[in-house]
Amino acid sequence: MSRFTEDEIKQKVHQGYILESPDEMTEGYRKALIVQLLVQADTELISAPAYWMAAQDAPSTNTMVSAVAIIQDELAHANIAYRILEDMGMDKEQLVYGRQPHEFKHPYGFDQPLESWAELVTANGFFDRAGITLLSDVFKNTSYGPLKRALVKVDLEETFHLRHGEVWMKRLSAAGGEAKEKLQRAVDWMFPMTIEWFGLPDDMKRHNGQLEYRLKGLTNDELRQVWMSATVPLCDSLGLKVPAHFDKESGQYVLDFPFPCEYDAEKKHWDFAGGQIPWEQVFARWRKRGPMNKFYVDSVRRSHYALNTLMQPKVA
Ligand SMILES: [Fe+2]
Ligand SMILES: [Fe+2]
Repeated sequence: MSRFTEDEIKQKVHQGYILESPDEMTEGYRKALIVQLLVQADTELISAPAYWMAAQDAPSTNTMVSAVAIIQDELAHANIAYRILEDMGMDKEQLVYGRQPHEFKHPYGFDQPLESWAELVTANGFFDRAGITLLSDVFKNTSYGPLKRALVKVDLEETFHLRHGEVWMKRLSAAGGEAKEKLQRAVDWMFPMTIEWFGLPDDMKRHNGQLEYRLKGLTNDELRQVWMSATVPLCDSLGLKVPAHFDKESGQYVLDFPFPCEYDAEKKHWDFAGGQIPWEQVFARWRKRGPMNKFYVDSVRRSHYALNTLMQPKVA
């Protein structure tokens, strides 16, 4: 039992207090941290099969090895987050192997097929950049000490993934022709996908446990701005078109498409022409999950089942 009330703990963490053990957590704090860590762990885990799918299109042995190194990092990151959840009394085995695919908490973007090298490196450039944006904010601001320390390693490795993405986006764009067209097609569906990843706009989000318990420092809209402030100039410099621009007057990045809007996962196409839709419709699409949800979850569990079958005692 925590020695703090909910109000006391909210006040203390905003004065800089760092919790070091689950014993100090109030129920509200614990719940908010579990949600945050589950999203983090599941995102890291599911990025592995998504990147693996795209890595099949690696142009050479050494580039395949770089992709596999990234996949290995992601699995280690997932393990770190599940391990912290385990310290909080959750069952890691159940979390990884006992849930239905739709119960995983990774973003809708990682339910999509990554089908080419161009899509892999754009995922590194966009999705890993989103990961760094979110996690570096957690690292700077979290009131949970064990998570803060664990994120040092994660952040270093994510920087490598991001660099891999950006270097390759530059190469493909400089190559021009079909390589650049493929890259532009990846940017076309992955840019709005990452924008949507950051969630509800601030004016619609009334209550935020993660901010109240100081599990993060920036709001959804602030995080979206941080991501765009790196991604839009990168794409501009590579001659890649993105539906957003910097507005000098407000000092903010502004979207040039109706947000949120509907997405056709089969065609990998955002329906800008269909205009803005209510967030309820986005949540319904997220809840239904995307086309690769079951395949990716099965893919990280397959060897576990095979092993269990092999270990079954033989019936005489
Ligand atoms: Fe990661
Ligand atoms: Fe990563």
